[in-house]
Amino acid sequence: MELIEGIKGRRSIRKFTDQEVTRELIEEIVETARFAPSWKNSQSVRYMLILDKEIKDKIANECVMDFEWNTKSINNAPALVLLLTVDKRAGYERDGSESTSKGEHWQSFDAGIASEAFSLAAYAKGLGSVILGIYDEAKVIEAAGVPEGQKVSALIPVGYPAEEPQAPKRKEVADLLTVK
Ligand SMILES: Cc1cc2nc3c(=O)[nH]c(=O)nc-3n(C[C@H](O)[C@H](O)[C@H](O)COP(=O)(O)O)c2cc1C
Repeated sequence: MELIEGIKGRRSIRKFTDQEVTRELIEEIVETARFAPSWKNSQSVRYMLILDKEIKDKIANECVMDFEWNTKSINNAPALVLLLTVDKRAGYERDGSESTSKGEHWQSFDAGIASEAFSLAAYAKGLGSVILGIYDEAKVIEAAGVPEGQKVSALIPVGYPAEEPQAPKRKEVADLLTVK
C-alpha cells in the first residue's frame, strides 16, 4: 500500500464482521509496528492481545467509564489490543533521572507514534481499528493483569471492517501551519 494513501485512507473503525483475527495476524502487524521511532530507541511500547472473551467482555462492559461507544466498539471487535508502555524509559536516563523538563511526556508521545504505526499496519492488511482513550486505567490493569510498572496508553479494538466511514472533516493546511 502506498504510504500517503495509507495515511489518508485509514479510518477509525468501530463496527466489525465476525471474522476471526488470529494471534499470527497480530504478530505480523506488530512486526511492522516495531519499526516505529521511539525515545533513544528505548522501544518501551508493549502490545497485549486479548482474545479471551471473558476478559474482553469485562473491559468492554466495566472499564470504559460508561462510554457506550467504546463498550460497543470492543464488544463488536473479535480482538482487543492493549497498548502498554513501560514506565521510566522514554524521557529518562538509565540512572532514572529525567532527560528533559517534560517528565513522563515522552512515554505518551512514543505510545502515540506506535498507535499510528500499528493502525496503519493493520489497515494495510485489510483490518480496521480504533484508538480508544476513554477507559478507567486501574480497572483495565486489574481486568487484563497488566504487569507492574506498565501503563495502559490506549485500547485498540481490531477486526475486519463492517463499515466504511467518511473521513471526519480536517482543518485546512493554512489553519495548521505557520511560517516565520
Ligand atoms: C488519543 C486518541 C483517543 C481516542 N479515543 C477515542 C475513544 O475513546 N472512542 C472513540 O470512539 N474514538 C476515539 N478516538 C478516535 C478519534 O475519534 C478519531 O481518530 C477521529 O475522530 C478522527 O477519525 P479517523 O480516525 O477516522 O480519521 C481516539 C483517537 C485518538 C488519537
